Amino acid sequence: MRIVDKLIEKNRDWVSKMNESNPNFFDGLKNQQHPEVLWIGCSDSRVSSNVITGMMPGDIFVHRNVANMVVSTDFNLLSVLQYAVDYLQVKCIIVCGHYNCGGVIAAYHSRQLGLIDNWLNPIRDVYFMNKKELSSFEDEGERINRLCELNVKQQVHNVCHTTIVQNAWDRGQELSICGLIYDVANGLLKDLKEVHNSTRNIPSIYVVDSPET
Ligand code: CO
Repeated sequence: MRIVDKLIEKNRDWVSKMNESNPNFFDGLKNQQHPEVLWIGCSDSRVSSNVITGMMPGDIFVHRNVANMVVSTDFNLLSVLQYAVDYLQVKCIIVCGHYNCGGVIAAYHSRQLGLIDNWLNPIRDVYFMNKKELSSFEDEGERINRLCELNVKQQVHNVCHTTIVQNAWDRGQELSICGLIYDVANGLLKDLKEVHNSTRNIPSIYVVDSPET
């Protein structure tokens, strides 16, 4: 069976199960979505936002890329972020990384893979900025996993540095940004306790006042 036929067959099974448990489910989602969460995660096939959190279609607005990066010149990310914050008015933005992330592992090792090395360069910056802490780990796997955590924390900050998020806070919009990490070995999410709901803990150089204020 072709993979696409298998996926369609699985889809039909899923639709029947959904209709059995809630005959109005699809009707309710037909014209609108009101997700409260924007999820910025890794493209890794093991870290599907809705599957690992047990959430339903309509619950999470999602952006995924290699190594859950928030790059301030990435129009794709910025468009998702602006739409989520300004129009969907999500209440929470989660940056979710994961241990054993191939992107982080590739950034850690210095063997060229191609174009993607440029995408991964900001992770090398995270390593460089935290070299002292990271070199204290004897075990390389633990060191890389700590780099995965530090990368999430940096990407949380990068979300907070955007004018999109800062303008929402200026308007008094309820919006928190937080970092989670997923353990592919046991399926558990861990809160990295990197939470921001204002510019209070953002270094002033990154806080840019809007022209109206
Ligand atoms: Co990954």
